[in-house]
Amino acid sequence: MIGERNMTDETIDVLILGARLATMDGSVDDELGRIEDGALAISDGKIVWLGPATELPAGFRASAAQVLDAGQAWITPGLVDCHTHVIHGGNRANEFALRLEGASYGDIARSGGGIISTVAATRAASEEDLLAQSLPRIDALIADGVTTLEIKSGYGLDTQAEWCMLRAARRVADLRPVQIRTTFLAAHAIPPEYSDDGDGYIDLICDTMLPGAAELGLCDAVDGFCETIAFSPDQIRRVFDCARTLGLPVKLHAEQLSDMKGAVLAAEFGALSVDHLEYIAQDGIDAMAKSGSVAVILPGAFYYLRETRKPPIEDLLRAGVPMAVATDANPGSSPIYSLLTAMNMACVLFGMTPAQALAGATRYGALALGLSDRGVLRVGLRADLACWNVDDPTDLAYGLNMRPLKWSMLGGKMREL
Ligand code: NIG
Ligand code: FE
Repeated sequence: MIGERNMTDETIDVLILGARLATMDGSVDDELGRIEDGALAISDGKIVWLGPATELPAGFRASAAQVLDAGQAWITPGLVDCHTHVIHGGNRANEFALRLEGASYGDIARSGGGIISTVAATRAASEEDLLAQSLPRIDALIADGVTTLEIKSGYGLDTQAEWCMLRAARRVADLRPVQIRTTFLAAHAIPPEYSDDGDGYIDLICDTMLPGAAELGLCDAVDGFCETIAFSPDQIRRVFDCARTLGLPVKLHAEQLSDMKGAVLAAEFGALSVDHLEYIAQDGIDAMAKSGSVAVILPGAFYYLRETRKPPIEDLLRAGVPMAVATDANPGSSPIYSLLTAMNMACVLFGMTPAQALAGATRYGALALGLSDRGVLRVGLRADLACWNVDDPTDLAYGLNMRPLKWSMLGGKMREL
């Protein structure tokens, strides 16, 4: 038995039997926390018991409103995609072709393409249009097991368009069976109106856009892009100071294309996560280890940009920095709408183990969002579950396009997909 609380006043809503559980809450011996022939009981949307079926408390079976046989399939925590830009207008297939002909991501951004071209398409879209264009992408993520999805703004880059993106993101939770966390990312690129005045744009963010978004309850965290083609550490510091005043946690796109020391800055603010990290140096790693920030590994962007420098996985591990894996789903650098695919890429491209990739898409994805109520199977946490047609949970990072999801639950409710 892994855990049990006083069940005298509780009824079991769902009792799952015949399950193999990967709790992701395991020991050094088995980081997956495998329980063969397991059972899991849910009450009020939460896990109230789990462990080997042989230890199931007497009476559970009779008192359960519903008994579900998992048929010996593996159950993991629902997947957490902790870094996406899934809401936007238009696409950038033309840039994919340009890059294949030799143009770099930076060249395209500097010539007015890149993020800025998605900004034009996003500004031209209504909230309804944005949702209509984005829901198919979100459906694809859900179909591969995502139960918690982070969505960033950052393609509006003016007050109304940024808030519109965030409102659309919040509405996804009413339209689809998925939990949404929203991240304010106005400091993603310098909008055309401010092309010669990045500091003036930071003023707008700190004076109006961010306080307003916070006041309207539109964002759960604040992010930025610290890079030569985006914002300097000093500019990001101003955004983070503003976030701190508003009581919002921060995250950062850092060291994706060069070492700007963004990770050191983000760690100073106790960032939930620092994301990309291909060019991070040891000072950044040490700072993250100290602050407890999660390293979010984004192999999709590495793959699409045909980057050659890998994030220093071994050094991060050695320093004890937890690593999440996410899709970075976006129309430019990572049009990938399967977290299982990102897990596979984290293994093939970066040498992560399948178990590390799975922990990165569950336990550490939740940590990167500051969510302590999910990401592992444990008594008292949300019953967000994914049940898979695989022989072993590590197989989830093995195949591509296998569509292994058998069923999934959000807060103890079976999702209709
Ligand atoms: O995480 N690096 C910056 N932002 C996104 C890319 C966004 C885009 O190219 O549209 C990323 O890769
Ligand atoms: Fe990103």
